Amino acid sequence: MGCDSVLSTQSSALQSMTTDELEKLLAQQPVALLHRLARGRVHRHFRAGKRRLIELLLQHSASNRAGFESDLQTLIEGQGSRTEPGPSRTHPPPTIAHKKTSPRGAEPESAETTISLSAWLEGLGVPSPQPFVPDPWQSEALSALNETDVVISVPTGSGKTYVAVEAARRAMEDNRSVIYTSPLKALSNTKYTEFSRIFGPDKVGILTGDRQENGQAPLLIMTTEILRNLLYDAASGEIDVRLDTLGLVILDESQYIADPERGVVWEETIIFCPSQARLLLLSASIGNPQDIADWLTSIRSTVCRLVRHSKRTVPLRAGYLHPNGKLTPLFRTLGIPYGHPNQLHPEAKRLFLEYEEETLPSGRPRR
Ligand SMILES: Nc1ncnc2c1ncn2[C@@H]1O[C@H](COP(=O)(O)OP(=O)(O)OP(=O)(O)O)[C@@H](O)[C@H]1O
Ligand SMILES: [Mg+2]
Repeated sequence: MGCDSVLSTQSSALQSMTTDELEKLLAQQPVALLHRLARGRVHRHFRAGKRRLIELLLQHSASNRAGFESDLQTLIEGQGSRTEPGPSRTHPPPTIAHKKTSPRGAEPESAETTISLSAWLEGLGVPSPQPFVPDPWQSEALSALNETDVVISVPTGSGKTYVAVEAARRAMEDNRSVIYTSPLKALSNTKYTEFSRIFGPDKVGILTGDRQENGQAPLLIMTTEILRNLLYDAASGEIDVRLDTLGLVILDESQYIADPERGVVWEETIIFCPSQARLLLLSASIGNPQDIADWLTSIRSTVCRLVRHSKRTVPLRAGYLHPNGKLTPLFRTLGIPYGHPNQLHPEAKRLFLEYEEETLPSGRPRR
């Protein structure tokens, strides 16, 4: 018996389904219905995507098939009574979207300008290869580094790594060593792989709490804590790493200087950094980069130049991934609406409500 006939004959047919037919029937249902069916049956069901939810429901159905099928039948029938009769019945719109009593559904959705998911995703992907041309701010930062320390404050994805790599290359060509720090072991590992590929494995080493490799290489990658400790120990002359040839120290993700717990590590690293080495601070999110540059100028032997801009090379798009696996644009516009936090995409709004309905304890007042 096929699922279409199961649907058309309703109650009597439900009782005689094979597991395959039951699975197909479940697959035809909107995920909201599956979540209702899963209540009290599947623990934390709202975290499961549709496929997984069906799997869990089928597992559960084995223990009480009759009760399961009866609940399923009731839900399908209840849904049918709320939807228009006709051929669209096998794909009814999710019920919560049409609730008249929606607690937050004040706006009439038909009047909203919305964008589709495919429009929202359009243009994502790998661009076709083009000749590399440094952006003006990248050239500006590199030439400033010849004379001064530099703080770079530009949005994420702008190309700060290019400046770090080129500055490191120049320092090494000048027989100077380079230290690159990041706040995370994972990022240090990634940079170790990336820089080894660029400069060759013999030129790059790593020193973190977990890994010590090639510690005599001219370009050393480490966590900022390790560098701070090195600089402490250097005062007593007890270290293996040569600091007298140090030409450049790159502090990536330097917004950590504002971290209430770890910020002191960045401050001390800057304070103890040998005066002959240039300092290059990279960040996408320092709120007051001029203050940081001024502070560096006040404590170091060279001035510090700030290179900044705020135009995003890679525009942000905001989306909402529902625990059931459904992805939707978060707002009604392609970009993020400035100053209009309530311009939610209707589908995102519906999913929020659905999630709330699934997770709020019954009887708890809604906001
Ligand atoms: N001038 C440029 N023209 C085109 N693409 C560039 C340019 N500079 C860098 N890129 C590319 O931009 C992408 C992002 O660069 P990168 O990872 O250096 O960004 P970032 O500023 O360090 O970002 P984050 O704040 O996330 O660390 C990379 O794929 C890089 O190759
Ligand atoms: Mg970066």
